[in-house]
Amino acid sequence: MKVLVIGSGGREHALCWKLKQSPLVTQLFCTPGNAGIAQIAECLSGDALQIAQEIGADFVVVGPEVPLAEGIVDKLQSVGISAFGPNQAAAQLEASKIFCKEILQKYNIPTAQAAWFEDGESAREYLSTQDDGPIVLKADGLAAGKGVVVAANRREALSAVDELFAMTTEASTPRLLIEECLTGDEVSLIALTDGETIVPLVPCQDHKRVGEGDTGPNTGGMGCYSPVPAFTDEMLQQAIETILKPTVAGMRADGITYRGALYAGLMLTPQGPKVLEYNCRFGDPETQVILPRLESDLLPLLMACAEGASTPLSEVACEWTNQAAVCVVLSAGGYPASDYRKGDAISGLEKAEETGALVFHAGTRLENNGHENEIVSSGGRVLGVTALGEDFLLARENCYRGVDCIEFEGAYFRRDIGWRCL
Ligand code: AMP
Ligand code: GLY
Repeated sequence: MKVLVIGSGGREHALCWKLKQSPLVTQLFCTPGNAGIAQIAECLSGDALQIAQEIGADFVVVGPEVPLAEGIVDKLQSVGISAFGPNQAAAQLEASKIFCKEILQKYNIPTAQAAWFEDGESAREYLSTQDDGPIVLKADGLAAGKGVVVAANRREALSAVDELFAMTTEASTPRLLIEECLTGDEVSLIALTDGETIVPLVPCQDHKRVGEGDTGPNTGGMGCYSPVPAFTDEMLQQAIETILKPTVAGMRADGITYRGALYAGLMLTPQGPKVLEYNCRFGDPETQVILPRLESDLLPLLMACAEGASTPLSEVACEWTNQAAVCVVLSAGGYPASDYRKGDAISGLEKAEETGALVFHAGTRLENNGHENEIVSSGGRVLGVTALGEDFLLARENCYRGVDCIEFEGAYFRRDIGWRCL
């Protein structure tokens, strides 16, 4: 089969790495890809729909949320190409936080209490009626992880209103969600679904803040580990029954079949797991710890989620290793500010791999320095290094052994990934 992966990050490198091992895949393509993906797949740039048609793709795996929200799966299907990921209607679950909240409320799924507003004045009026404690504000549309403000008090909340409304200018109706601030451990629970069967993948925990001890501004994710001891099997069952199942069934009742990866960002509150947000795709760097733990072939699992699949998802094998996995993200100096460093030559990649670690490229590209092609940084998150181990401590040790082989000017990473396990 000819398989095309859409995207260019560490998540897509991990997807390509795992798909490359499938005996069903004869040719692997990626658009646009990165320098690491180019070592295992043919990278093509241009319009994804056109590329899928030109190469005669049998199956397309969509990584990021933006093409999903723009309806790439609907477009591929309309030209007869099967694809992994939700259609445009289902992708609203991530693309609109208010659409998501309406589903959660309608089907009594545990989540933070919330209200939403179409203008700054009514948002401020509402805030003045709330306790002067922590409160969370969210711009309605996709904001590349920048649309959420966890305000410590009313003053901070009031001053974030206009800035967040400004982020929603592209939407037909700019809207702002204001919700209760939840506390607890966060867990990423990602499931595969065909709209009926739900296959939960192993849970993991991301580290969203840039600084050690979970301080500083939010990022796309600085590192991940799996399994998550704080998320017990009992909590997992509770999350499947009270969160994942009613979400998929509720959407189906509303006429939307959700197919693809359903990623629940959960807060483990004293009352049990509650939904912070839904994403309509695999997580990044979550995928970089989930897929190395998957023993089964990924392709049949993804294909079984797509419309018209010949094998039901319930009949596809999904086996896991008991080993723990840790992924540490190396970012460019200055990240997550937008003026981070770019174009720095990266060394030690092979040495890192020789330690047994997996090096997933995110923001990298090949550049000719006049003598040879070298790999240079080209994005905020540059690389993700993943290692397995018999337990968390060994996986972490193996992971940092790999990380310590890699050098580039301004490289930054957290030394404390998984600190909550200690
Ligand atoms: P997002 O950009 O939607 O992934 O949200 C960013 C982060 O904001 C989440 O990972 C949480 O840490 C935090 N967050 C979102 N909603 C809430 C909430 N209701 N209470 C506390 N923290 C929240
Ligand atoms: N790591 C967070 C995300 O993928 O949204």
